[in-house]
Amino acid sequence: MESHKKIALVTGAAQGIGLAIAERLAKDGALVVLTDMLSDKLEQETYRLKEQGLLAEYMELDVSNESNVKNVISTISDRYERLDILVNNAGISPKVNGVRTKIIDTSLEEWNKVLQVNLTGAFLCTREALPLMISNNWGRVVNMASQAARTFSRVSGTHYAASKSGLIAFTRNLAAEYGTHGITANCIAPGRIITPMAAVVSQEKNLEFAKLSAVGRLGTTGEVAAAVSFLCSEEAGYITGSTLDVNGGTFMN
Ligand code: NAI
Repeated sequence: MESHKKIALVTGAAQGIGLAIAERLAKDGALVVLTDMLSDKLEQETYRLKEQGLLAEYMELDVSNESNVKNVISTISDRYERLDILVNNAGISPKVNGVRTKIIDTSLEEWNKVLQVNLTGAFLCTREALPLMISNNWGRVVNMASQAARTFSRVSGTHYAASKSGLIAFTRNLAAEYGTHGITANCIAPGRIITPMAAVVSQEKNLEFAKLSAVGRLGTTGEVAAAVSFLCSEEAGYITGSTLDVNGGTFMN
């Protein structure tokens, strides 16, 4: 592959895991497009990265909105004529007072919303990004699944688990369909990571989680970002269709 600056798009990048991934990929040398719906935070964080001398820009994006996704990726296409790395990180995990909702109590509206953001959002971004990757014969897609897709989760709802399991199946198909175009697709399945999403759950519950892990603590956003960085590297070209658990040994397969 010829040497050029890689262009990376990270969804849900205004905070938490997505922000750490954006920062890490920029430190790896990519020009990172941070996207999110939280426009103020997005702007502030992008500015912070640029102040460190990193290459970053931001675009407002709701991944569940098809025309919004099309516009953002066509802007990237017009500006850079390429998109090398796509990290589908944006996700929601609705809870009531920090507690998962059981199936009987889940509204269709909430079910649809979770699927629309966590699963359809990744499909839309990937579908729009693929032609750019195919034309350059190189691409890396990393989808943010969850431990909730690997085993029963006491903290997240059924809709969330179903959406994340769907993401793993989607990733396998993506890997199989486009591998010969130099494109790899993998999932990360984080355990409990300290972010605003995790803070919705009580500290007591998070401490219980820490005790369940082999390493005796929660994970950091930097540890997830490091795994993404590896999967996006040249050296990871033979890893595709896989799911990498980043969970401190809470669930071992
Ligand atoms: P977070 O809630 O701190 O950040 C998620 C970001 O996604 C927010 O900035 C939010 O504005 C954005 N977002 C939500 N809906 C969006 C939409 N429709 N379009 C664009 N952006 C949208 O969450 P966190 O913890 O950083 O999670 C990131 C990813 O990692 C999510 O997919 C989550 O499901 C996954 N994950 C997180 C774990 C954790 O313990 N924190 C564990 C396992 C998976």
